[in-house]
Amino acid sequence: MDTKIPDTLNTVRSLEKEQFEVLYSISKALNAAVYKKNLFEETLDIIIRVIDAERALFVMYDEPNTKFSIVAARNVKQETIDDLSTFSSGILQKVIAEKRPIIYHDVQSAPGISQFQSVLIHQIKSVLGVPVFRQGKIAGLILADSQMNRKAFNEENLYFLDFFSNLVSLALDRISQIEELIDENTILKNQLQTVQKIPGLIGQSPAIKQLVQMIERVARTDTTVLLLGESGTGKDLAARAIHELSERRQKPYLAQFCGSIPDSLLESELFGYKKGAFTGAVADKKGLFEVASSGTFFLDEIADISIALQAKLLRVLQNKEIIRLGDTQSIKIDTRIITATNKDLKILTKEGKFREDLFYRLNVFPIYLPPLRERTGDIPLLAEHFILRYFGKNITVHPETMKRLNGYQWPGNIRQLENVIQRAAILCDGDILLPEHIIIEEADGMGSFAGTLEDFERMILMRRLKEFNGNRTQTAKSLGVSVRWIQLKLKEIDSPDD
Ligand SMILES: Nc1ncnc2c1ncn2[C@@H]1O[C@H](COP(=O)(O)OP(=O)(O)OP(=O)(O)O)[C@@H](O)[C@H]1O
Ligand SMILES: [Mg+2]
Repeated sequence: MDTKIPDTLNTVRSLEKEQFEVLYSISKALNAAVYKKNLFEETLDIIIRVIDAERALFVMYDEPNTKFSIVAARNVKQETIDDLSTFSSGILQKVIAEKRPIIYHDVQSAPGISQFQSVLIHQIKSVLGVPVFRQGKIAGLILADSQMNRKAFNEENLYFLDFFSNLVSLALDRISQIEELIDENTILKNQLQTVQKIPGLIGQSPAIKQLVQMIERVARTDTTVLLLGESGTGKDLAARAIHELSERRQKPYLAQFCGSIPDSLLESELFGYKKGAFTGAVADKKGLFEVASSGTFFLDEIADISIALQAKLLRVLQNKEIIRLGDTQSIKIDTRIITATNKDLKILTKEGKFREDLFYRLNVFPIYLPPLRERTGDIPLLAEHFILRYFGKNITVHPETMKRLNGYQWPGNIRQLENVIQRAAILCDGDILLPEHIIIEEADGMGSFAGTLEDFERMILMRRLKEFNGNRTQTAKSLGVSVRWIQLKLKEIDSPDD
């Protein structure tokens, strides 16, 4: 026989002082739970204790799909029960169908229940089933049973369980929200960690942080990326990082420098060829686009490719297929394309040197790598990083040395800083990096320097003197010569015919 539950007010009235005390301790326990799993187990242990049940079961119910999922099952010994087939799903279904708490006093003789095998096998005497409502719908169920050797459940037990299930429902609401927040927090923290994990990318400046965020975001997609920035700002490094942080990280990463390479050679590198396509094509050869299919292909210095190759590249981006030189059949490819340039492609398009349609295809997601002079705050970190790499240990940087590094404009950006530290590692024997170990080659004008060795000597001397405010001792030290040598040179410069 099952019994209908009276209205809430009467239910509360029928509770005894002792039961109120139990409810108070229960509400405290429920409030303390932070994870759903703890809540479910806590709930079941309380039920078993308070109504003197043999076992208890917590089931979540997916109403739209009428599916149960068991989230916790405990016995009187506070053990977790793994063999869940021993609980009667027939009783669960009855509670759901009737949407109300149900008690069976004498299960063995209850029509429609006694035939459930589990009831018979487990010698179940009475069963309590209570729905847990959330937003008016059954979200879960609690089931408790007692065996033949125990006392049968009574109506009070049912009221208690019904009351209790309302508390559980409130606690469930609270915990679900907390758990969602905790999960979200874990995901965000994890994302931050991957940001810091970008291999070898050093910097804490806002500009670098923003760059790292962009790389991280775009890495998760298959979008074509255009890396922009002066020479030495880290475009190669960024391209690699995008690949490493993408789903394609296990697949090939290929890079091709496109500057100052004869057109036909570059074309056969990129697209491959068929045997006999040209003299020297003695066998079929795959192009890099094909080899990098399913991976990432980085085309460096894209501004330098010829108009003819630009047209071919456009076709690759539009159709996602390539044709090997000398072939007629196209091959589908799924290569993620990253390109880079230190030139202004917009100006080149205006000058007719770069196809506008290709520019738009490449410029889907431009990432600008800031020059070092715009993020001087990163210089000490970078210096430390390169010191460790080239000295093989940490060494003290003299404040004057740091002042010099911080004050310089770094036209060659990070690569130049790296070169300077690498050079310093050769010059510095001690444990302190002194200003004289820092030899900065003057990048401006050097590339087109057409003078004699003597001219060069003079130029370096004059610049260095200027750098040390005319102090000959310091200049001599930094150049590794004697003060006497400097005096002689200056004399020569003053009166060249002597
Ligand atoms: N943020 C960074 N942290 C540490 N090292 C860096 C960073 N950015 C660049 N580097 C280092 O500086 C050097 C130059 O970087 P990279 O080759 O990526 O520059 P680039 O922009 O491709 O230059 P180019 O235009 O001349 O090809 C490399 O050795 C690279 O490892
Ligand atoms: Mg590069």
